[in-house]
Amino acid sequence: MIKIAPSLLSADFTRLGEEIVSVGAADYLHFDVMDGVFVPNISIGLPVLESVRRVTDKPIDVHLMITEPSRYAAKFAQTGADIVSFHVEADSPENIAQAIAGVHSAGKRVGLALKPATPAEAILPYISLLDIIVVMAVEPGFGGQKFMTEQLPKLRAIHDMIEARNPVCELEVDGGVNPETARLCVQNGANVLVAGNDIFGSADRAARIKELRG
Ligand code: DX5
Ligand code: ZN
Repeated sequence: MIKIAPSLLSADFTRLGEEIVSVGAADYLHFDVMDGVFVPNISIGLPVLESVRRVTDKPIDVHLMITEPSRYAAKFAQTGADIVSFHVEADSPENIAQAIAGVHSAGKRVGLALKPATPAEAILPYISLLDIIVVMAVEPGFGGQKFMTEQLPKLRAIHDMIEARNPVCELEVDGGVNPETARLCVQNGANVLVAGNDIFGSADRAARIKELRG
């Protein structure tokens, strides 16, 4: 089954509780954390996560776009995230391994994300430890960008690595997902689709989630 993860970055933050209710048909809530250093934007962090956790039972899928995520990954896991993903480019190999262990010690699922320029092979040293891999189909930092179809061969390559080495690991695509690009993602092995603008820009969000799921 294809899972849909609406990105709260595209929600109306003045009505966040209602926005969360409006995407009740989704599988995960995608929660984008940006530090203004790893990406050229600043978004939301721990206090907002704490509030969101109080109003939903839906699994919260945190995507850390921050430098040295090893400083914060376990903290997000302890603050209510169900899944904590961070970028393989953002820290040293030792710290990445330590952050993976930190999230697991908190009893939560862990993932690694790859920017568009990062090759599939970057995931190999960690693949057996991961619960999810996030392939970015836009440059991280902003919602509403165009899907990069040139990421599809990498998606397929990572899908094949998962099949061979850790078949329970999920494969998520983040950025520019709409009903048309969703089909391409699924054809190339994705099973979790993040969508921000596409879902929150729709009047009938339940119908849009259904359409994305295919
Ligand atoms: C981008 C974020 C994405 C983004 C997706 O840096 O990681 O999760 O919010 O938004 P759309 O679906 O609008 O591209
Ligand atoms: Zn994201």
